[in-house]
Amino acid sequence: MAKPCKTAILISGSGTNLQAFIDAVEQGTLELNLCVVFSNNPNAPGLERAEKAGIPTTCIQHNDYPDRESFDEALIAELDRFKPDLLVLAGFMRILSTRFVTHYCGRILNIHPALLPAYPGLNTHQRVLESGDAWHGSTVHFVTEKLDAGPRILQGRLAVKPGESAEELALRVQAVEHQIYPQAAAWVGSGKVVFRSGECWRDGKQSDAPVIQNF
Ligand code: GRF
Repeated sequence: MAKPCKTAILISGSGTNLQAFIDAVEQGTLELNLCVVFSNNPNAPGLERAEKAGIPTTCIQHNDYPDRESFDEALIAELDRFKPDLLVLAGFMRILSTRFVTHYCGRILNIHPALLPAYPGLNTHQRVLESGDAWHGSTVHFVTEKLDAGPRILQGRLAVKPGESAEELALRVQAVEHQIYPQAAAWVGSGKVVFRSGECWRDGKQSDAPVIQNF
Protein backbone atom coordinates (compact mmCIF):
# COMPACT_ATOMS: atom_id res chain seq x y z
CA MET A 1 0.00 0.00 0.00
CA ALA A 2 1.04 3.57 -0.69
CA LYS A 3 2.26 5.56 2.32
CA PRO A 4 0.37 7.10 3.95
CA CYS A 5 -2.42 4.75 2.98
CA LYS A 6 -5.18 6.52 1.02
CA THR A 7 -8.35 5.90 3.00
CA ALA A 8 -11.99 6.49 2.07
CA ILE A 9 -14.46 6.64 4.94
CA LEU A 10 -18.07 5.68 4.22
CA ILE A 11 -20.81 6.95 6.50
CA SER A 12 -24.58 7.28 6.67
CA GLY A 13 -25.06 9.22 9.89
CA SER A 14 -23.51 11.01 12.79
CA GLY A 15 -19.91 10.03 12.10
CA THR A 16 -18.45 9.91 15.60
CA ASN A 17 -16.09 7.17 14.42
CA LEU A 18 -15.14 9.34 11.45
CA GLN A 19 -14.38 12.10 13.97
CA ALA A 20 -12.11 9.74 15.88
CA PHE A 21 -10.12 9.15 12.66
CA ILE A 22 -9.97 12.88 11.92
CA ASP A 23 -8.77 13.66 15.45
CA ALA A 24 -6.15 10.92 15.44
CA VAL A 25 -4.75 12.06 12.08
CA GLU A 26 -4.73 15.70 13.22
CA GLN A 27 -3.00 14.75 16.47
CA GLY A 28 -0.39 12.80 14.53
CA THR A 29 -1.20 9.48 16.20
CA LEU A 30 -2.62 7.92 13.03
CA GLU A 31 -0.78 7.89 9.74
CA LEU A 32 -3.52 7.68 7.10
CA ASN A 33 -4.40 9.98 4.23
CA LEU A 34 -8.16 10.51 4.60
CA CYS A 35 -8.79 11.14 0.90
CA VAL A 36 -12.61 11.24 0.83
CA VAL A 37 -15.70 10.85 2.98
CA PHE A 38 -18.64 9.31 1.17
CA SER A 39 -22.24 9.33 2.39
CA ASN A 40 -25.36 7.79 0.89
CA ASN A 41 -27.33 10.26 3.01
CA PRO A 42 -26.98 13.95 2.09
CA ASN A 43 -28.07 14.97 5.60
CA ALA A 44 -25.51 12.86 7.44
CA PRO A 45 -23.95 15.10 10.11
CA GLY A 46 -20.67 13.32 9.45
CA LEU A 47 -20.37 15.22 6.16
CA GLU A 48 -20.00 18.46 8.11
CA ARG A 49 -17.30 16.94 10.27
CA ALA A 50 -15.36 16.04 7.11
CA GLU A 51 -15.84 19.47 5.55
CA LYS A 52 -14.63 21.14 8.73
CA ALA A 53 -11.51 19.00 8.56
CA GLY A 54 -10.95 19.89 4.90
CA ILE A 55 -11.57 16.36 3.61
CA PRO A 56 -13.31 16.07 0.23
CA THR A 57 -16.87 14.78 0.55
CA THR A 58 -19.16 13.11 -1.92
CA CYS A 59 -22.69 11.78 -1.79
CA ILE A 60 -24.79 9.51 -3.96
CA GLN A 61 -28.27 8.59 -2.78
CA HIS A 62 -29.17 4.93 -3.10
CA ASN A 63 -32.82 5.90 -3.70
CA ASP A 64 -31.79 7.31 -7.07
CA TYR A 65 -30.89 3.81 -8.29
CA PRO A 66 -33.24 0.96 -9.16
CA ASP A 67 -31.31 -1.74 -7.32
CA ARG A 68 -28.33 -2.51 -5.11
CA GLU A 69 -26.13 -3.53 -8.05
CA SER A 70 -26.53 -0.26 -9.95
CA PHE A 71 -25.99 1.82 -6.82
CA ASP A 72 -22.86 -0.13 -5.94
CA GLU A 73 -21.58 0.29 -9.50
CA ALA A 74 -21.99 4.06 -9.19
CA LEU A 75 -20.35 3.95 -5.78
CA ILE A 76 -17.33 2.09 -7.16
CA ALA A 77 -16.96 4.63 -9.98
CA GLU A 78 -17.19 7.51 -7.53
CA LEU A 79 -14.76 6.07 -4.99
CA ASP A 80 -12.25 5.01 -7.64
CA ARG A 81 -11.84 8.66 -8.66
CA PHE A 82 -9.98 9.03 -5.35
CA LYS A 83 -7.93 5.82 -5.80
CA PRO A 84 -8.34 4.63 -2.21
CA ASP A 85 -6.13 1.85 -0.83
CA LEU A 86 -8.49 1.22 2.06
CA LEU A 87 -12.23 1.64 2.70
CA VAL A 88 -13.43 2.24 6.25
CA LEU A 89 -17.14 1.65 6.86
CA ALA A 90 -18.12 3.86 9.77
CA GLY A 91 -21.83 3.55 10.31
CA PHE A 92 -22.45 2.99 6.59
CA MET A 93 -25.94 1.52 6.63
CA ARG A 94 -25.84 -0.40 3.36
CA ILE A 95 -25.36 -4.07 2.63
CA LEU A 96 -22.68 -4.34 -0.04
CA SER A 97 -23.02 -6.43 -3.19
CA THR A 98 -20.62 -9.22 -4.15
CA ARG A 99 -19.35 -7.05 -6.98
CA PHE A 100 -18.43 -4.26 -4.56
CA VAL A 101 -16.77 -6.53 -2.01
CA THR A 102 -14.84 -8.32 -4.77
CA HIS A 103 -13.69 -5.05 -6.33
CA TYR A 104 -12.12 -3.94 -3.03
CA CYS A 105 -11.30 -7.45 -1.83
CA GLY A 106 -9.40 -7.40 1.47
CA ARG A 107 -9.39 -3.61 1.59
CA ILE A 108 -12.68 -2.93 3.39
CA LEU A 109 -12.97 -2.60 7.16
CA ASN A 110 -16.10 -2.47 9.26
CA ILE A 111 -16.81 -1.94 12.93
CA HIS A 112 -19.67 -3.78 14.55
CA PRO A 113 -20.94 -2.99 18.05
CA ALA A 114 -20.69 -6.50 19.52
CA LEU A 115 -18.12 -9.18 20.26
CA LEU A 116 -18.52 -11.04 16.97
CA PRO A 117 -19.42 -13.75 16.20
CA ALA A 118 -21.94 -12.93 18.94
CA TYR A 119 -24.77 -10.62 17.95
CA PRO A 120 -24.43 -9.87 14.25
CA GLY A 121 -27.18 -7.55 13.01
CA LEU A 122 -29.00 -4.74 14.80
CA ASN A 123 -29.94 -3.78 18.40
CA THR A 124 -26.86 -5.42 19.82
CA HIS A 125 -26.81 -3.54 23.15
CA GLN A 126 -30.39 -4.45 23.99
CA ARG A 127 -29.82 -8.06 23.02
CA VAL A 128 -26.71 -8.28 25.22
CA LEU A 129 -28.65 -6.92 28.21
CA GLU A 130 -31.58 -9.26 27.61
CA SER A 131 -29.21 -12.24 27.51
CA GLY A 132 -27.59 -11.16 30.78
CA ASP A 133 -24.09 -11.30 29.28
CA ALA A 134 -21.19 -10.26 31.48
CA TRP A 135 -19.17 -8.86 28.57
CA HIS A 136 -19.88 -6.67 25.57
CA GLY A 137 -17.85 -4.56 23.18
CA SER A 138 -17.07 -3.94 19.55
CA THR A 139 -15.23 -5.69 16.73
CA VAL A 140 -13.20 -4.36 13.80
CA HIS A 141 -13.17 -6.88 10.96
CA PHE A 142 -12.44 -7.24 7.28
CA VAL A 143 -15.58 -7.14 5.15
CA THR A 144 -16.48 -10.21 3.14
CA GLU A 145 -19.70 -11.13 1.40
CA LYS A 146 -21.14 -12.56 4.61
CA LEU A 147 -22.64 -9.82 6.75
CA ASP A 148 -20.70 -9.13 9.99
CA ALA A 149 -18.74 -12.35 9.47
CA GLY A 150 -15.39 -11.38 7.91
CA PRO A 151 -12.07 -12.12 9.64
CA ARG A 152 -11.78 -10.26 12.93
CA ILE A 153 -8.85 -7.95 13.60
CA LEU A 154 -9.41 -6.26 16.96
CA GLN A 155 -12.03 -6.35 19.71
CA GLY A 156 -12.56 -3.84 22.50
CA ARG A 157 -14.20 -5.52 25.47
CA LEU A 158 -15.93 -4.10 28.52
CA ALA A 159 -17.81 -5.54 31.47
CA VAL A 160 -21.55 -4.91 31.48
CA LYS A 161 -22.50 -2.94 34.63
CA PRO A 162 -25.42 -4.17 36.71
CA GLY A 163 -28.56 -2.17 35.98
CA GLU A 164 -27.19 -0.12 33.08
CA SER A 165 -29.51 0.78 30.22
CA ALA A 166 -28.97 -0.01 26.53
CA GLU A 167 -28.30 3.71 25.96
CA GLU A 168 -25.63 3.85 28.67
CA LEU A 169 -24.03 0.70 27.33
CA ALA A 170 -24.12 2.05 23.78
CA LEU A 171 -22.26 5.19 24.86
CA ARG A 172 -19.54 3.17 26.58
CA VAL A 173 -19.17 0.90 23.54
CA GLN A 174 -18.97 3.95 21.29
CA ALA A 175 -16.07 5.34 23.34
CA VAL A 176 -14.30 1.99 22.91
CA GLU A 177 -14.89 2.12 19.16
CA HIS A 178 -13.21 5.50 18.94
CA GLN A 179 -10.05 3.88 20.32
CA ILE A 180 -9.99 0.57 18.50
CA TYR A 181 -11.09 1.55 15.00
CA PRO A 182 -8.24 3.98 14.24
CA GLN A 183 -5.86 1.49 15.88
CA ALA A 184 -6.97 -1.41 13.66
CA ALA A 185 -6.96 0.79 10.55
CA ALA A 186 -3.39 1.85 11.37
CA TRP A 187 -2.36 -1.83 11.49
CA VAL A 188 -3.91 -2.45 8.07
CA GLY A 189 -2.60 0.82 6.63
CA SER A 190 0.94 -0.04 7.67
CA GLY A 191 0.73 -3.63 6.43
CA LYS A 192 1.07 -5.14 9.93
CA VAL A 193 -2.32 -6.75 9.38
CA VAL A 194 -3.36 -8.03 5.95
CA PHE A 195 -6.22 -9.99 4.42
CA ARG A 196 -4.91 -12.98 2.52
CA SER A 197 -6.79 -16.02 1.13
CA GLY A 198 -9.88 -15.08 3.10
CA GLU A 199 -8.04 -14.87 6.43
CA CYS A 200 -6.56 -12.22 8.68
CA TRP A 201 -2.77 -12.29 8.92
CA ARG A 202 -0.89 -10.41 11.63
CA ASP A 203 2.89 -9.93 11.53
CA GLY A 204 3.15 -12.58 8.83
CA LYS A 205 1.12 -15.19 10.73
CA GLN A 206 -2.43 -16.30 10.12
CA SER A 207 -4.56 -15.33 13.10
CA ASP A 208 -8.07 -16.65 13.53
CA ALA A 209 -8.52 -14.91 16.87
CA PRO A 210 -8.72 -11.12 17.07
CA VAL A 211 -6.53 -9.07 19.36
CA ILE A 212 -8.62 -8.31 22.46
CA GLN A 213 -8.24 -5.09 24.43
CA ASN A 214 -10.07 -4.66 27.73
CA PHE A 215 -11.48 -1.28 28.65
C1 GRF B 1 -21.12 2.43 15.35
O1 GRF B 1 -21.65 2.07 16.58
C2 GRF B 1 -20.66 1.20 14.62
O2 GRF B 1 -20.40 0.14 15.46
C3 GRF B 1 -21.82 0.87 13.73
O3 GRF B 1 -22.41 2.10 13.39
C4 GRF B 1 -22.15 3.04 14.42
C5 GRF B 1 -21.66 4.29 13.76
O4 GRF B 1 -21.67 5.38 14.62
N1 GRF B 1 -21.38 0.10 12.59
P1 GRF B 1 -21.07 6.77 14.16
O5 GRF B 1 -21.84 7.26 12.95
O6 GRF B 1 -19.62 6.57 13.87
O7 GRF B 1 -21.28 7.68 15.33
